[in-house]
Amino acid sequence: MYKTIRGTKDILPEEALLWQEAESRARRIFAVYGYKEIRTPLLEEAELFNRSLGETTEIVQKQMFLIKRDSDTIALRPEGTASVVRAWLENHLDKQEHFSKLYYLGPMFRAERPQKGRLRQFHHIGCEAIGSLSAELDVEVISLLSRILGEIGVKDFELRINSLGCAEDKKRLSAALKKSLKERLKDLCEDCVERYQRNVLRILDCKKTECKEAVGKLDILDSYLCEECGSHFKSVLEGLSSSGIPYKMSNQLVRGLDYYTRTVFEATSDKLGSQDALAAGGRYDMLIKELGGDTEGAVGFALGVERAMLSMDGGFKIPNHQLQAYIIPLSRNARRACLNTLQALRNNNIISDMDYENRSLKANMRKANDIGARFALLVGDDEISNKSVAIKDMRSGTQESVAVDNLQRILKDKLGS
Ligand code: HAM
Repeated sequence: MYKTIRGTKDILPEEALLWQEAESRARRIFAVYGYKEIRTPLLEEAELFNRSLGETTEIVQKQMFLIKRDSDTIALRPEGTASVVRAWLENHLDKQEHFSKLYYLGPMFRAERPQKGRLRQFHHIGCEAIGSLSAELDVEVISLLSRILGEIGVKDFELRINSLGCAEDKKRLSAALKKSLKERLKDLCEDCVERYQRNVLRILDCKKTECKEAVGKLDILDSYLCEECGSHFKSVLEGLSSSGIPYKMSNQLVRGLDYYTRTVFEATSDKLGSQDALAAGGRYDMLIKELGGDTEGAVGFALGVERAMLSMDGGFKIPNHQLQAYIIPLSRNARRACLNTLQALRNNNIISDMDYENRSLKANMRKANDIGARFALLVGDDEISNKSVAIKDMRSGTQESVAVDNLQRILKDKLGS
């Protein structure tokens, strides 16, 4: 028997209903905030991610699923931001709109070690607002994230926020960190010793106790922002406060992708264990230029759907697609008439189905009960000859015979009541 690939998961019909509802609620909120959907391919040139996320990041170094074909190296997309910016430039939206608010839903791929809340194929609901440096836009994006989380039933999360500053500030912070951590290298975990060489900022958000302790002793984390970045961050925090969005400042939040500048944020839930990030995002003001455009300023977020599902606090009602009519042919002859009735009901948008397995009446009544059908419609030779259908109410157990011509109207009345 074949099995799913490690770190991937089937979403079975019951759970898929929950996904559909979460996705449609997210779409509705995106529309309320003026965001339009964009769909980009799952396959991209690997180089796009090397360039955008950074050669030294964990995703690029270790986690991309790569396909080599002829002289091309193609990647299964590990995230959506780089693809959206690529599409924005390639399709000249930069020239047509200058500023665009886009959202996306779909699978992402990372070859991580699978565990609870960490998959190799997982799903993002994300957005990117491209073409503006406005601090109010950071507030909008964060407010949009908390609204969507709330709307899909994730009530209990913490929003952590930091500013990495501009490229110059990041360089200054990295240099200061290198200097201060030089003496403490022996106290860091193996990964962080490597990060010290490749990407020293990442040491700040290492979850290991020894690294947290070493970093906790540093006093350089409050003073690296230039005046402009400092004032941008101040405006963002003021905007959040005046919008009533609770947040926690965290000067150790740096995020694992190189494109970030200025504001970075993460929503975490204590329902998730060690993989506690539900959603994350921030500004990536220089990425458009990095990918060949001439605009600065962009901000977005992505939320992990699987992790959101693990963090739901109830209050999330699955829509009711209950079968309204289940048609049971009582004889071989009746099957054709049943098919016609079924078609007519469906043309009237009555959720209906019929027995395709030639079950006995008893087995069919059990089935109608098991699948929660509201009415069973019985059609046998007698019904065909006098052009009628027997309607059995599965709740009350009562049964009545109605003329085929009146079936739609009577059924609609009953379903409406
Ligand atoms: P990210 O932090 O890499 O950011 O991913 C966002 C979210 O995706 C995480 O907070 C987490 O919920 C979920 N996630 C990540 N990896 C996995 C995994 N292996 N299994 C399950 N869930 C996972 C980004 O991807 C950025 N593109 C976000 C962004 C958009 N920044 C600006 N715009």
